Amino acid sequence: MSTALQIKDLVKQFATGKPAVDGVSFDVPPGEIVVLLGPSGCGKTTTLRCVAGLEHPTGGRISIADRVVSEPAKGILVSPRERDIGMVFQSYAVWPHMTVRQNVAYPLKHRRAGGGGDAKSKVDETLALVGLDAYAERPVTALSGGQMQRVALARSLVYRPHLLLLDEPLSNLDAKLRIRLRDELRRILKQTGMTGLYVTHDQSEAVVLGDRIGVMRNGKLLQMAPPGEIYNRPADPFVANFTGAANVLHGKVLARNGDRVTIDLGAAGRIDAWTPQPLAPGDKARVALRAENIRLGESGPANAFSGRIVERRYQGMQTLYDVVLGDQKLEVLELGTAARHAPGEIALTLPPDSCWAYLEDGSDHD
Ligand SMILES: Nc1ncnc2c1ncn2[C@@H]1O[C@H](COP(=O)(O)OP(=O)(O)OP(=O)(O)O)[C@@H](O)[C@H]1O
Ligand SMILES: [Mg+2]
Repeated sequence: MSTALQIKDLVKQFATGKPAVDGVSFDVPPGEIVVLLGPSGCGKTTTLRCVAGLEHPTGGRISIADRVVSEPAKGILVSPRERDIGMVFQSYAVWPHMTVRQNVAYPLKHRRAGGGGDAKSKVDETLALVGLDAYAERPVTALSGGQMQRVALARSLVYRPHLLLLDEPLSNLDAKLRIRLRDELRRILKQTGMTGLYVTHDQSEAVVLGDRIGVMRNGKLLQMAPPGEIYNRPADPFVANFTGAANVLHGKVLARNGDRVTIDLGAAGRIDAWTPQPLAPGDKARVALRAENIRLGESGPANAFSGRIVERRYQGMQTLYDVVLGDQKLEVLELGTAARHAPGEIALTLPPDSCWAYLEDGSDHD
């Protein structure tokens, strides 16, 4: 098997409105976890449901384990039952009248694959994997939310599908449990070697779970890359903004050298930045940067500016500063329990590697 999942030019158009999924393409090699991340309504669930076969795509091609399961142009549409996938959803889909063990054993009885003499050992193994071995004989109704969600997970793991699809499986849990299960989920998926497609609008979940993250907006996949690349080399201004680079400076491109540009910020001066786009001298540009990447009280070596702190908000573990730079404004975040800088004039450095330039398109990317 060369790919566990291959999606090519996927389109899903519902009866009304714009396409919910609009030309999405990506591959997932066996054993990898890909997370689709994006704001509400961007098409994450629809993409997942097309892979599951619960939604009939309008166009494109989906292959699971190198077998085409959907290609409308050729009239191919394999039913969900024939796709060898597991699914875990936001709501705990467990049978309330059964015990934990009966719930987990259920799919083995009702699938052509699996079952057989070693069904019990498969169930035991899977219960141990999700940490519920001690609860096997309990009715599921006597479990906490997090435990029930682990039953749901065990049920979809027990028959070892090629591909596990997860749609916001942790969003009904409280914050603490969410973080614990998030970390456990990655361990469990990696231990089983299963391929995962995981949908969430929660960045921290995406970063912890994903080998790669695909950021979606308006039915389109904007960038798919390892978390570190999404966070440090956002290919698109929406990706930068959505993952927390909320500061934007406006200017005009003066010069370009490879993937570096120098931008005239007007009264603030000049700034050097990295760009993933074909920006050319004369273009209007925006520079995105994270509040925590700005260094207050430091000048240089590159991108040294002088600004003015106009407001300071001490928050205990960190301090936020509003800084005026020429005729533009920045928010700066410093970690630590001391608010080190007082309002007034201040030197600051915007490290060029943390400054990302994009073509100005007038939108706010929110
Ligand atoms: N059955 C349907 N009929 C018509 N439109 C739909 C249907 N299902 C989804 N849509 C629309 O398709 C778009 C994408 O929806 P989708 O559920 O895929 O978003 P999402 O990214 O999962 O959002 P969320 O984070 O809120 O779950 C939305 O505009 C939604 O209104
Ligand atoms: Mg959804």
